Amino acid sequence: MARPLLADIDLDALRHNYRLARDLAPHSRALAVLKADAYGHGAVACARALEGLAPAFAVACLEEAETLREAGIVTPIMLLEGVFEARELERVEALGLWMVVHSDWQLDALLAHRPARPIPVWLKVDSGMHRLGFPPERVEAVWKRLVTAPAQACDLHLMSHFATADALDPSYFQHQLALLEALAERLGAPTCLANSPATLAWPEAHGAWNRPGVMLYGGDPLEASSEASRRLKPVMTLRSRLIAVRELAAGEPVGYAGRWRAPRPSRIGVVAAGYGDGYDRHAVDGTPVLVEGRRTAIAGKVSMDMLTVDITDIPDAEIGSEVVLWGRAANGEVLPVDEVARYCDTISYTLLTGVLPRVPRRYHGGFG
Ligand SMILES: Cc1ncc(COP(=O)(O)O)c(C=O)c1O
Repeated sequence: MARPLLADIDLDALRHNYRLARDLAPHSRALAVLKADAYGHGAVACARALEGLAPAFAVACLEEAETLREAGIVTPIMLLEGVFEARELERVEALGLWMVVHSDWQLDALLAHRPARPIPVWLKVDSGMHRLGFPPERVEAVWKRLVTAPAQACDLHLMSHFATADALDPSYFQHQLALLEALAERLGAPTCLANSPATLAWPEAHGAWNRPGVMLYGGDPLEASSEASRRLKPVMTLRSRLIAVRELAAGEPVGYAGRWRAPRPSRIGVVAAGYGDGYDRHAVDGTPVLVEGRRTAIAGKVSMDMLTVDITDIPDAEIGSEVVLWGRAANGEVLPVDEVARYCDTISYTLLTGVLPRVPRRYHGGFG
């Protein structure tokens, strides 16, 4: 058999999650965030599955937008960080992209440009993330410059990003939102503020547009999951098989540095997946996996091409048995990627975007 590691991508689940984002915010439009190769799921396939459903997509850079256009995607695409060099403006225009303007040099470059048609522009405010954007006290002046340049900029929106919309403590989120509401009212500006956690948990942050990302892929970004976030479906299932089984006496070690030692006579299954595939090497002993749809756990350090799991309590597990590292097993049992991420001291975002090209993606559904 070929190496049995696959990332199964359920495009119907992607569409379900997109509809959830849209239904949670009935007065907003939801821009589907497809950056980082659609969080590791394959941007072209995801864009095709969402075309006609999502009115616009968002990516991090021109190259990601070019990949979509070259694949025939015609839906509007937003550049979340705008251009990185003034000469990219010509490609923005040629590809019919929308762009963020977050800094003075981008504003000057845009206003010096002579596009055949004005470019839709989202003015980014730094409301407290302190990453990109104009400070609030400068936004009115920048907005006016854009309003008075109709040959360069059209469809102006005010955009910002929340630092803590996922957190249980609402105080910093509320501070950012209050600042943005005041600015938007003063300018009469339509807004685009909400990422996945704000789409899920903060209706007051829903604007003309929202920007859900990880929730489209079934990741639950909330510190405390909610009724809405529990309706998300996993899109990626990272699926492999047992390629060897070992019988160990009590006390025998497994893998590099012998990190795990059998506490009793044990059966160890060897799985074809490792950090060379993007599975996180920080996974501790006890990180959950599904073998034949039943929960068990990692035993021993993750290697480049393999990892080892304790199958002592799954006596019918054998070479060829199904292993799900996250996602949905054949028997319907789900192992959320967020749960695996906690054992790796990370977030679902890094696990999903970290699945390497060596892992074939296999697509299901997604039409109609
Ligand atoms: C500017 C911006 N908007 C939206 C998103 C989507 O965020 P999330 O995946 O949490 O929904 C991101 C993701 O990092 C982002 O940087």
